[in-house]
Amino acid sequence: MATTSKERTRLAGDPHRPRYHFLPPANWLNDPNGLIHWRGQYHLFYQHNPLAAHWGVIHWGHAVSDDLVHWRDLPIALSPTPDTPDAGGCWSGCIVDDDGVPTMVYTGLRDRVQRPCLATSDDDLLTWTKYAGNPLIAAPPPEFDQNEFRDHCIWKTGDTWYQVIGSSVPEVGGAALLYRSQNLRDWEYLHPLCTGAKDETGTVWECPDFFALGDTFVLAISPIPLRKSLYMVGSYADQRFTPASIHDLDIGGHFYAPQTLRDASDRRIMFGWLWEGRSQAAQDAAGWAGVMSLPRVLSARPGGQIEFRPAPELAALRGAQQRWENLQIEPAATTALDAQGDSLEIIAVLAPGDATSLGIDLRRSPDGAEYTRISYDRAQQRLEIDRRRASSNDDDQHDIHGGALELADGEPLRLHIFVDRSVIEVFANDRVCAASRVYPSRADSLGVALFAEGGAAEAESIDVWKMGAVW
Ligand code: FRU
Repeated sequence: MATTSKERTRLAGDPHRPRYHFLPPANWLNDPNGLIHWRGQYHLFYQHNPLAAHWGVIHWGHAVSDDLVHWRDLPIALSPTPDTPDAGGCWSGCIVDDDGVPTMVYTGLRDRVQRPCLATSDDDLLTWTKYAGNPLIAAPPPEFDQNEFRDHCIWKTGDTWYQVIGSSVPEVGGAALLYRSQNLRDWEYLHPLCTGAKDETGTVWECPDFFALGDTFVLAISPIPLRKSLYMVGSYADQRFTPASIHDLDIGGHFYAPQTLRDASDRRIMFGWLWEGRSQAAQDAAGWAGVMSLPRVLSARPGGQIEFRPAPELAALRGAQQRWENLQIEPAATTALDAQGDSLEIIAVLAPGDATSLGIDLRRSPDGAEYTRISYDRAQQRLEIDRRRASSNDDDQHDIHGGALELADGEPLRLHIFVDRSVIEVFANDRVCAASRVYPSRADSLGVALFAEGGAAEAESIDVWKMGAVW
């Protein structure tokens, strides 16, 4: 197989290929897996088809980082073994520290059957030995869908391990099943940690991730068929989670199957899979598909939402900076900034003034024919990413995604934006994230412009940095 660096070098010139979002050397990526801060290093595993730029026989890819920003490729960590419970694929899972032994629980696929499997490593997560007793659980309890039983989140309370597995109650809705173990190998079924109603939270819950932020409990799920991930905030008592509210984890339409880790400084950090927004033919031609989100640092906000901030380590990538202050944004025109780039970080603090909507255009061509618009509608209290003019290629997605962003009286719109070639990732007022994918057709779609409608707005400040590459 070609060496990692050769693959990366070969693809680096692709104008749509991100430079500081993690992605494999080549070919397919989906969910983040096994996130762990181990002996001072961040390990990122991921669902990977090493043979093609589409989903297929899934392996676990592996990369490591000292700083959450720069990643080094490691050999594939996990591959299917013929005639065993993971013969058809090694699907999503997690890694825990079992008294010094890194222990992975993942979903093995054989034919249509999905079962929990275990593997351990004795060389700092590089190679893995599969447990001879796989699968760990013979079948889900009979009241759950026998063909939907996958993805694992494990934690320890006292001497007891708990595991949550994604599933479905036929005709009712998604479910997260709770198990208990003393040794990570023998598991006793308790009951659902939580179940949902199909009209609200979908029919099958993929990739449940359950964790605490201070006193707040959070269950993140990726429900079929919603094509987005949700988080529920609520209480945990008697080993049952009761949601008090449900929110979108990201409103951009491209963020799925997230997983979190807790690092040595007790931060809760989330990565998610950003899927493509272009045709399968374009993905095959590119030779790669799927990108990891930037690391998002989570904390609890009063009132039941999560605060999301890009990991501060990303500032290491900042190059030349430009700054504007007190810039008037006249209505019904765009105010182009003298800033250019397809690898930028932008922090825009926008006072709405008399505007009814306002925002920023990215990847904009000089004549304004191509652009992607981030806009905020004040009356609707809604943030949107509009890709209708993002490219002139009919095969790319051209749509609008959005969701609620409630600003307090007098609170400016604060857009913290990362542009990385085909990735746009927005953190709005530290509480609403929107990630999207765009593929501008023109090489000069590099501009940044502000706009206001219905009245004038003001940019209190705008900072723009050129961002460096991580490889
Ligand atoms: C989510 C998912 C998981 C599964 C994996 C397979 O994207 O469908 O439920 O484990 O991907 O690649």
